[in-house]
Amino acid sequence: MKNVFITGANGLLGQKLVEVFSSENRILASDLQPEFFPSQPKISKGFFEYEKIDILDKEKLETFISSFKPGVIINSGAYTDVDGCEVEKDKAWKVNVEGVKNLAFLCKEFKIKLVHLSTDYIFDGKNGPYSEDEPPNPLGYYGLTKLESEKIIKNNLTDYIIVRSNVLYGKGVKVKKNFVLWVIDKLKNNENIKIVTDQLNNPTLAFNLAQAISELVEKNFVGTVNIAGSEYLSRYDFAKKIALKFKFNKMKISSIKTEELKQKAPRPQKGGLKIDLAKKLLSTKLLNVDEGLEYMKNNPL
Ligand SMILES: NC(=O)c1ccc[n+]([C@@H]2O[C@H](COP(=O)([O-])OP(=O)(O)OC[C@H]3O[C@@H](n4cnc5c(N)ncnc54)[C@H](OP(=O)(O)O)[C@@H]3O)[C@@H](O)[C@H]2O)c1
Repeated sequence: MKNVFITGANGLLGQKLVEVFSSENRILASDLQPEFFPSQPKISKGFFEYEKIDILDKEKLETFISSFKPGVIINSGAYTDVDGCEVEKDKAWKVNVEGVKNLAFLCKEFKIKLVHLSTDYIFDGKNGPYSEDEPPNPLGYYGLTKLESEKIIKNNLTDYIIVRSNVLYGKGVKVKKNFVLWVIDKLKNNENIKIVTDQLNNPTLAFNLAQAISELVEKNFVGTVNIAGSEYLSRYDFAKKIALKFKFNKMKISSIKTEELKQKAPRPQKGGLKIDLAKKLLSTKLLNVDEGLEYMKNNPL
C-alpha cells in the first residue's frame, strides 16, 4: 500500500486512475474544482481525500505533499484542448510546462516518483506509429508544451515514468466530450457527421491506460513508455466501429480530409504509438477498439 497523489483527478484519465489506484493505495486526489466529480471513488477501500489544488500553486502543492508524503505523484492535470492551446499559448505553457516544473522540483526535493502523461502529438505524424526513441517534432503548441514537460522531467529526475498515449476515450462524470462520446451523441440525435480518413492513431480506453499505469508503478518501471490501444486505424474507421457497437446508423457518417476541416491546430496525420515495449513489460492486455467499446457498453461509468 502506497500513498499516491493524483492531479487532474476530475479529468477522464484522472477519474480512472482514482478508481484503479484506490483499490490498493491511500489516495490524495486534486484538481481545479472544489469537489471530486464522482460522488466517491468506485472501489476505494481505504483512505481517500480530495483537495482543490492548482498545480501552478507551488506553495499549496508543497503543503499537501509534505503532510501526505506520497511515494508516487501521478500528474494527469493538463490543458488538453489542442485547438485552445494555439490561442491561449500563455495558459498552455503555464499549465503544461510550469505546472510540471513545480511537480518535478517537489519530487526531487522530497524523493518522490513522478508519473507524467504525454502524447503522440510530440511527433509530426509523417511516419507514425512511433516508438519511444524516435525524434519528436511537434506540429502544434499543445505538442510543444508536452515535449517541453518531458524534457524538464528527464533533465531533473531519475525516478520517473513518462507515459505517452493517444486518443483517450471512455465515460466519466462530467468529463469533456472525447471522440467516442461525441460520435455517440451526434448519432443518437440522428445528425450527419463528417470524419477524417487521413488521421490515424491507436485509440486508448482510459480505464485500460489507468490499469497499465498501475502495473508500471507496481513494477517500479523507470523511463518513457508508450501505452495505447492495440488497433491502428483512421478516425473514420473508428467512428464506423462506434456506430456498429452502439447500433447507430453508420450511413450518417461521411468521410472528409484533414485539410477541409480547418482546425486551428495542425494535426499529425500518421500519428499513434508503437506498443511493443509495453507488451513486453506488462501483463495488462492493451485492448483493441472492439474490446474497449465493449467495456464502455457494459460499464455505466
Ligand atoms: N485526451 C487524450 O486523447 C490524451 C492523449 C494523450 C495524452 N493525454 C494526456 O493525458 C492526461 C490526461 O488527459 P485527459 O484526457 O484525462 O484530460 P482532461 O479530461 O482534460 O483532464 C485534465 C484535468 O486537468 C485539469 N487541470 C487543468 N489545469 C490544471 C491546473 N492548473 N492544475 C490542476 N489541474 C488542472 C483539468 O481541469 P479543467 O477541465 O477545469 O481544465 C482537467 O480536470 C493529460 O496530461 C493529457 O495531456 C491525453
